[in-house]
Amino acid sequence: MRNGKRKADAKMPMKMPEGFLWGGAVAAHQIEGAWNVDDRGPSVCDVMTAGGPHRPRRITNGVLPGEYYPNHDGIDFYHTYEHDLDLFQEMGFSCFRTSISWSRIFPRGDEDEPSEAGLAFYDKLFDAMHARGIEPVVTISHFEMPYHLAKEYGGFRDRRLIDFYLRFCEVIFKRYHNKVRWWMLFNEINNQTDVTRDIYAFTNSGVTYTPADNRRQVMYQVVHNELVAGARARQLARQIDPKMKIGCMVAWVPIYPASADPADQMSALDAMHDRFLFTDVYLRGHYPAYIRKQWKREGIQIDIHDGDLEALREGTVDFIGLSYYMSSASRAGATGDADERGFESSVSNPYLEKSAWGWNIDPTGLTYTLATLYERYEVPLFVVENGFGAYDIPDESGYIADDYRIDYLRKHIAALERAVVDEGVEVIGYTVWGCIDVVSFTTGEMEKRYGMIYVDRDNEGHGTLERRRKKSFYWYQHVIETNGEEL
Ligand code: BG6
Repeated sequence: MRNGKRKADAKMPMKMPEGFLWGGAVAAHQIEGAWNVDDRGPSVCDVMTAGGPHRPRRITNGVLPGEYYPNHDGIDFYHTYEHDLDLFQEMGFSCFRTSISWSRIFPRGDEDEPSEAGLAFYDKLFDAMHARGIEPVVTISHFEMPYHLAKEYGGFRDRRLIDFYLRFCEVIFKRYHNKVRWWMLFNEINNQTDVTRDIYAFTNSGVTYTPADNRRQVMYQVVHNELVAGARARQLARQIDPKMKIGCMVAWVPIYPASADPADQMSALDAMHDRFLFTDVYLRGHYPAYIRKQWKREGIQIDIHDGDLEALREGTVDFIGLSYYMSSASRAGATGDADERGFESSVSNPYLEKSAWGWNIDPTGLTYTLATLYERYEVPLFVVENGFGAYDIPDESGYIADDYRIDYLRKHIAALERAVVDEGVEVIGYTVWGCIDVVSFTTGEMEKRYGMIYVDRDNEGHGTLERRRKKSFYWYQHVIETNGEEL
């Protein structure tokens, strides 16, 4: 865009190239339920209570009587997946992103043998997708590991987790390589750089901070262990079946300078390092100079073993999977703004509106993100999460006219198309987050809804679990039908 006008040939249709993947995204722990069915062991998400917009989720010491754990039931997808996939097919999905629940395959995480019941479930699920012309897109660890690994090993603080993760990868790669082409290593691995929020350390890495911890030291060590695990998984996948495409998955919140003051530009650049660190290692295969300097300044020492740096170099990924919900802004010297998040210099951006949960709404930020990442790495990008969390109020007949969600998605898909058509960015696909209502990750609510399919369940776990098509269901169906030309 220049001065609000299209850059490229204005006659070029704003639509996606042939073969573009359209779909939706969820994660096992937010939908499957059946938390203790068949062999499944508890995962870290099973000890997280429900919270609310201003009430953080609590992590309890095991599953305690009298507490409500919304992930235990999710939306019961474990039993309803055939019917839910029918609805996705009706919407026209060509792909569907979900994750594999690690504790369904290895209930404790440190066993030698996987659970056949767990493996059989995903066989059935992937077969059911293919039968409907829907390609699976799979996150290997989406904010989940067996609770036992967190409790007994301290999660990825312990390098043995690298081997447990690799054993998990080996089993699922060998079992599903003919059914799953698109894989991602760790969901939103960069979230944990916000060391002020305990649920990120816990769900990203199985880490619980102690008062004695230098949190940033622990976090960067854990990140190192995960980057090595991911790189080795990438190498393993190449040996098992080179047809598999292995991507990273990062939460991309672009941080703008709050003004044209060069000091703000520098503080934004600085704040972005906690995002670029991950893509730089995943794509370039080594730690960039800025992080080595930062570690030195902060006195952070990373325990790097023989072969780790080589693994990072050899195990670079094939594509970048990313979530995009919002942007943020940075002002030099700011000390944190109550309604912003994640980094010290964060300030409110007066140009943007916010959702009811305080997330900035910024479609242009998506074009900016895709252009920035593509310019820097020149690898295909996959927008595997984007969506609008809102309270949905059914009318008397139970129908939900969610025009606010349609408005958000329309503007973001248009922004995606600008990146592809005007900027030449290569994008594999787009999956709307929570295409069916799911348990919210940050708050554990059901009523922070993203879906185009309503699920009758409330924040206390009441409801019939009935599925109903919202207005956005029909809107997205048409978007897919026209390959994005008619929004
Ligand atoms: C991403 C996660 O952070 O955002 C999802 O990958 C999550 O798991 C989604 O659900 C939306 O966040 P929330 O907290 O609104 O559910």
